[in-house]
Amino acid sequence: MSEEKEIKKDRAGITRRKFLKDAGIVVGGTAIGSAFFLSACGEKVEVTKTVTTTAPGATITTTAPGTPGGTATETKTVTKYICPVCSQEFDTLDALKAHFDSAHEKEAVVQDGVINITVNGQSHEIRVKPHWTLDYVLREVFGLTGVKRGCELGACGVCTVLMNDRPCLACLTLAIECGSKRIETIEGLAEDALNLHPIQQAFYEEFGAQCGYCSPGIVMRTKYLLSKTSSPTVSDIRASLSGNICKCGNYSNIIKSVQLAANKVKGG
Ligand code: FES
Repeated sequence: MSEEKEIKKDRAGITRRKFLKDAGIVVGGTAIGSAFFLSACGEKVEVTKTVTTTAPGATITTTAPGTPGGTATETKTVTKYICPVCSQEFDTLDALKAHFDSAHEKEAVVQDGVINITVNGQSHEIRVKPHWTLDYVLREVFGLTGVKRGCELGACGVCTVLMNDRPCLACLTLAIECGSKRIETIEGLAEDALNLHPIQQAFYEEFGAQCGYCSPGIVMRTKYLLSKTSSPTVSDIRASLSGNICKCGNYSNIIKSVQLAANKVKGG
């Protein structure tokens, strides 16, 4: 008796890299335990299998019963566990774990990486761990503490820096992905303490900062806005800064500051 099996399924394609990024795990330089790894990545999927029996005399139970001696088709749904590394499938999680331990344990070792990164106009070659975020590297490696930490969830905007001239939430960006990127932080704006950037000067003059914690992110976001629109309307400003939260609620002064900054950048 010959049997032909066709497996139809949607492989989600969860990779170790995506897993690390999604989970933000802190395991630099160590092997990830298979139980931990697989509990996060070992997909439990329902697989629809079509089983076709062609051998003479075959009898199987189907919704449309097959005729002895003919061809019968049966469709049923089964649960499979998919290896996140090689996509091999297993009937049980234990079987997947055993496979992972024997075939992929070594591959799960997280490696450091070396990146070339340009920060405020200076290029650097640095070694980073795969789980280091950009805000961690900017603050702890480069000492740029103007990059603030708030929610670390991408919700408050205080960590905003410019990456290749576009706003970027440093708390959600892995440094290892920043190779060949240009990063600009608040420290890169002013020539010195007496020669502020026009945007900083405008925030100073219009009291755009109260406690000042959110200001670096707002100023960097403003720099991007003014690079796109030289005369932003109030609604442009509100829309652009909608991802930057000010705990002091100083929004009216922030909007005035951006308007003055636009005039100063234009040379007014
Ligand atoms: Fe990055 Fe809040 S700390 S968005």
